[in-house]
Amino acid sequence: MIRRCGDGDFEAVCLIINSAAEAYRGTIPEDRWKEPYMSLEELLAEVDAGITFWGFEEGVELVGVMGIQPVQDVTLIRHAYVRPDRQNRGIGGKLLSALNQQTTRPLLVGTWADASWAILFYEKQGFRLVSSEEKDRLLRKYWSIPERQIETSVVLADRKWRCR
Ligand SMILES: CC(C)(COP(=O)(O)OP(=O)(O)OC[C@H]1O[C@@H](n2cnc3c(N)ncnc32)[C@H](O)[C@@H]1OP(=O)(O)O)[C@@H](O)C(=O)NCCC(=O)NCCS
Repeated sequence: MIRRCGDGDFEAVCLIINSAAEAYRGTIPEDRWKEPYMSLEELLAEVDAGITFWGFEEGVELVGVMGIQPVQDVTLIRHAYVRPDRQNRGIGGKLLSALNQQTTRPLLVGTWADASWAILFYEKQGFRLVSSEEKDRLLRKYWSIPERQIETSVVLADRKWRCR
C-alpha cells in the first residue's frame, strides 16, 4: 500500500500535490500562493535535490504522497499531501509512520504558519512546534527556501529531536 515513487509516478504526484494544496488558497499569505502551486519541473528539481517521495496506493491509484530528505544530521519531511477526497482517514499518519521507520535521525517538518490543520496533524503524530528563534535558525540551516518563506513558516520537531 505504501511504496516508493519512481519516474513514472511524478505526474500523479504533482496532481495530488496541487489538488491538496488548494487548502492553502486564501489561507496562506497571498504572495506565497501560486498556480499551479507546484509545477512538474519544480517537483523534479526537488527530487534532484535529494527528496525521495513515498506514496499511499489504493488499488492502482496513488492517493497520498510524502517526501523525505536527509540533510546533515536530520531528516526533513517534505511535501506531505493527501488527495482532498481521501483526507482525514489516516493516510497521512500512515505515510508519516512509514517514513519515520526509515531513519534513526531526528525528524523536522516545516509548514505554513497559517496551515493550522497541518500543525494539528503533526502535533497528533507527536511533533511539537519549536520557538520562533529556533524556527528561523533551523530553516536557515537545513532548508533552502526564500527569506519570505522563513518568515511565514513554522517548524515542528519529533521526539528524537527534543531528546537528542
Ligand atoms: C495534512 C495532511 C497531509 C494530513 O493527511 P491526512 O491523511 O488527512 O491525515 P490523517 O487522516 O492521518 O490525520 C488526521 C488528522 O489530521 C488533521 N486533518 C486532516 N485533514 C484535515 C482537514 N481537512 N481539516 C482539518 N484537519 C484535518 C486533523 O488533525 C486530523 O485529526 P482528527 O481526525 O482527530 O481531527 C492532509 O490533510 C493534506 O494533504 N492537507 C492539505 C495539504 C497540507 O496541509 N499539507 C501539509 C504540508 S506540510
